[in-house]
Amino acid sequence: MKKILITRKLLKENEDKLSELFEAKLNTNDKIYSAQEIIDNSKDCDGILSSVTDPINSDTISRLSPTVKIIANGAVGFGNIDFKVARTKGISVTNTPDVLTDATADIQILLLLGASRKAYEGRIAAEAQNWKWSWDFLGKQMSNKRLGILGMGRIGRAVARRAKGFGMEIHYHNRSKLPANLEGDAIYHKDLKSLFSQSEFLSINCPATPETIKIINKKTLSYLRDNAVVGNAARGDVVDDDAMVDAIKSGKVFAYGLDVYNGEPKIHPEYLKLKNIFLLPHLGSATKRTRWDMAYRATQNLEDFFQGKKPQDLIN
Ligand code: DGY
Repeated sequence: MKKILITRKLLKENEDKLSELFEAKLNTNDKIYSAQEIIDNSKDCDGILSSVTDPINSDTISRLSPTVKIIANGAVGFGNIDFKVARTKGISVTNTPDVLTDATADIQILLLLGASRKAYEGRIAAEAQNWKWSWDFLGKQMSNKRLGILGMGRIGRAVARRAKGFGMEIHYHNRSKLPANLEGDAIYHKDLKSLFSQSEFLSINCPATPETIKIINKKTLSYLRDNAVVGNAARGDVVDDDAMVDAIKSGKVFAYGLDVYNGEPKIHPEYLKLKNIFLLPHLGSATKRTRWDMAYRATQNLEDFFQGKKPQDLIN
């Protein structure tokens, strides 16, 4: 029986299935392992079922036991794993696309709405019991506005479908223009300047790659329409937080909703002080159904791999 390190605590049904198929080394108290703990705990393992919190960078990979042949990340994003170095070490890496598209797109809409309609400030006032109905406390209406989507992959397109329900006009930038069947009536912009200058609302949905790290920075934020609302359900590292804080303070950005952070679980201290920020603790995929699907899909990738088949979600 193949031995698998499961780095985080999963739903019981998923852990039971993994224990049926493999000698599963579970993380019963859900401690987040350091790189060294991942190395030590996987010493005699054939594979690892990892999560976004696991720092599996080139250094970790180069020190992993040679018995480890696959890392099945239970996430669509795989910025936590240096998959190129893994390939050079003969380690396969998989992710879990598709299954979290809807849950994450739902959260993106929540971020845009929560930010634009002052959900955080409203909650503070409600809790303090010092509110009254007034002609004040005004947010920004999302309906019928122009939405710019940065990254028109599965999640970006799912955000677009939802936003159309709000009567929004969809604009997007992507590495390449989508084929007509995926693009629908969304309007392609070949660069960020063109997209941002149209965006009253901006939805960040691009993966974190060397090309997109801090793609939202002082310069690109200056292209945005004044008083734009920004939502980020992708990755914290695509935003230069200091530049974003300045843009919020100057009023360039009306409000910012975010679910993901640079150096999670740390949060930029200024984000915690500003009222026009709507924060969530990386809940994009956090529904029971979605998490079950993610773990199931990672399990399938492991199963396929050890049966000698090509896992469906192989990324390297
Ligand atoms: C992912 O799958 O990349 C999500 O961010 C995990 O919640």
